[in-house]
Amino acid sequence: MRILFLTHSFNSLTQRLFIELTRRGHEISIEFDINDAVTIQAVELFSPELIIAPFLKRAIPEEIWRKHTCFVVHPGIIGDRGPSALDWAIMNEQLQWGVTVLQANAEMDAGDIWAAETFPMRLAKKSSLYRHEVVDTAVHSVLTAVKHFATGQFNPQPLDYSNPSVQGRLHNPIRQSDRAINWQLDNSQTILKKIHAADGFPGALDTLFGEPYYLYDACAEANLTGKPGEIIAKRDHAICRATVDGAIWVGHVKHKTNTEPSYKLSASTALGKQLASITRVPFDPFSTEPGETYRDIWFEQKNHVGYLHFAFYNGAMDTTQCQRLREVYLKATQLNIKVLVLMGGPDFWSNGIHLNHIEHADSPADESWRNINAMNDLVHAIITTNRQLTIAALQGNSGAGGVFLSLAADIIYARESVVLNPHYKSMGNLYGSEYWTYLLPKRVTKEQADSLTQNRLPIGAPEARQMGLIDECFDLNLQNFREKITQLAEEFATDKKHHYLLKQKNHQRETDEQQKPLQSYRDEELRQMQLNFYGFDPSYHVARYHFVHKIPHGWTPLYLARHHKIKFP
Ligand code: COA
Repeated sequence: MRILFLTHSFNSLTQRLFIELTRRGHEISIEFDINDAVTIQAVELFSPELIIAPFLKRAIPEEIWRKHTCFVVHPGIIGDRGPSALDWAIMNEQLQWGVTVLQANAEMDAGDIWAAETFPMRLAKKSSLYRHEVVDTAVHSVLTAVKHFATGQFNPQPLDYSNPSVQGRLHNPIRQSDRAINWQLDNSQTILKKIHAADGFPGALDTLFGEPYYLYDACAEANLTGKPGEIIAKRDHAICRATVDGAIWVGHVKHKTNTEPSYKLSASTALGKQLASITRVPFDPFSTEPGETYRDIWFEQKNHVGYLHFAFYNGAMDTTQCQRLREVYLKATQLNIKVLVLMGGPDFWSNGIHLNHIEHADSPADESWRNINAMNDLVHAIITTNRQLTIAALQGNSGAGGVFLSLAADIIYARESVVLNPHYKSMGNLYGSEYWTYLLPKRVTKEQADSLTQNRLPIGAPEARQMGLIDECFDLNLQNFREKITQLAEEFATDKKHHYLLKQKNHQRETDEQQKPLQSYRDEELRQMQLNFYGFDPSYHVARYHFVHKIPHGWTPLYLARHHKIKFP
C-alpha cells in the first residue's frame, strides 16, 4: 500500500513505523507538518492510499481528511482526548494506559476508532514510557489498523462516551502550575512523578539559585537527607535535592530565559560554579549494594561475566562520561571475568558524542575534538581487549557514533524493537570517527556500508542482523532480554568455547593490525573530522545548532519525502 506519514518530525515512533511498514512491503513517504499548503502538495504528489499521523501537533487540513482516510496515533486510551495525554496519565497515577488509532475528522481526537490497545504503567520518565510502552503499543495498533483498512470491510468504532468501557475523557492541556513542585509539602514520590511527567518535554519548571529552570532526568535517593528544597549533594552531572521525606537527584536542567537561547544541559554543566560549595558524594561503579541513587555508570559481576551499564541521559556521551566509562571499562578487564557485556542504558544504548555540551562549550570545535577523541579512546580500549570476549547488548536504540561504538564489541545482540541509525551524515555531513572505517567493513559489504552511511535511514534490528551488522536480535521485553543476554554470556564463558574464540579474536586483531594499524584508521577519520570542526564548511556547526535548539524544519529532507522524487526523479 502507498502510505504517507504526516508528522511533526521523524521521531522514534515514526522511525519504528517506517521500518515495520516497509518490512511488510508498504511504500512509505514522509512529509513534515510544516504548513497546510505543503501537506496538501505532498498528498497530491504521492496519491497515498492511506495517511498516517504518528506524531502530529496540529490538526490535519479538512481538505485532506475529507478525501482520504487519515489515521491519527493518539497516546491515550479510548475516549482520552487533548494534548499532554501521557503527562496526565503519569500525574493521575493511572495503572493502565494505552494508544488509540483513530480517524481524523473535524473534532480533535474524536474520530472513529480503528484500533486501540492498553499497557500497564510504571513509575518512569515520560520519555522512557514513550520510547518503550507507547512505541511498542502504537506499532502493534497501527499494524492492526492497517490490516483492518486493507480488508476494505472494516467499520471503525465511533467514540461513544455512553459505553461504560470508554474510560478516557477530554482533558485540558497540562500547565506548569499543574506541575509545580512544593518542596515544603510534596514528598519524594510526588516530586519524582511531577518531573517524570514532564521529562523529555517541557520539563518541570522550578527555581535553582533564584533562577527559573526546567528539571528533567530525576531519580530517587535512598540515604541522603537535608532541609527540604536545599541542594545537599552533587555527583558527576547531577545534583541532589532534599525533600520532606528524603531526597531526589536531578540530572538535567534547562534555563528558562527570554534573552538567550536555551537547551538541556547536565545540572553540573548548567549550574557550574554555583555548585562549588556543594558536597561531592561520589558513587563507586563497582559497589555491590548501591541502593536507590543516581548513577550513570555501574558494573555488576555474576560468575565469570561482567556487565557494564552506561545509562547516559538521551544516550549522549560527553568527554568526561567517555573518560569515566573507559576508566571503569579498563578496571573491569582486570577482574576475573571471561566475558564483558556492554549494556548501555534501558532507553538508549548510545547516541554518540554529546551535542548539547559541545554547543555550550566556549569553543564547540575544540569540545567536539576532545569529545570524539575521548570516544575514540573508549572504542580503542574495547577493540584491543585481549583477555575477554566482549558483547554489546542493545536494550534501547542507538544512533550515529553510538552504533559504531557497539561494533567495537566482538558480538552484538539487540532487542528486536531496537532502531539503529548507523550514519553521521544528517549532522551536517559529519564524517564520523569511532574507528568506523575499520569496524563497518568487517561486518557489511561496501554497497551496504555506502547505503547505510549515505541514505541516512533508520534500520530495524532484524534488518541489521540480516546484513550482518549485528549478530542476533530477540523479540523480548527488557527483563527477558537481560536474562537471555546473561544466558548467552555465560555460555560464551564456558571454558572450551571461550578459549577458542578468544584465541581466534586475538589472532584476527594481530593480522588486522599488521595490515593496517588502528592508528591509521583513527588518523584518517580525524583528518576529516578536523575539516568538519575547523574547516571552511560550517555545515556541522549549523546542523548541530539546529539540532540542539530544536529549530523546526523548514522543509522535509528529500531522502524522507520520496513523493518529490516521484515528480522530480
Ligand atoms: N547529543 C545530545 N543530545 C542528543 C543526542 C546527542 N548526540 N542524540 C540525541 N539527543 C537528544 C535529543 O536532542 C532529544 O532530546 P530531548 O530529550 O530534549 O527531546 C533526545 O535525545 C531524543 O532524541 P530524538 O532525536 O528525539 O530521538 P529519536 O529517536 O527521534 O532520534 C537519533 C534518534 C539518534 C536519530 C537522533 O537523536 C540524532 O540524530 N541524534 C544525534 C546523533 C549524532 O549526530 N551524534 C553525534 C555524532 S556521533
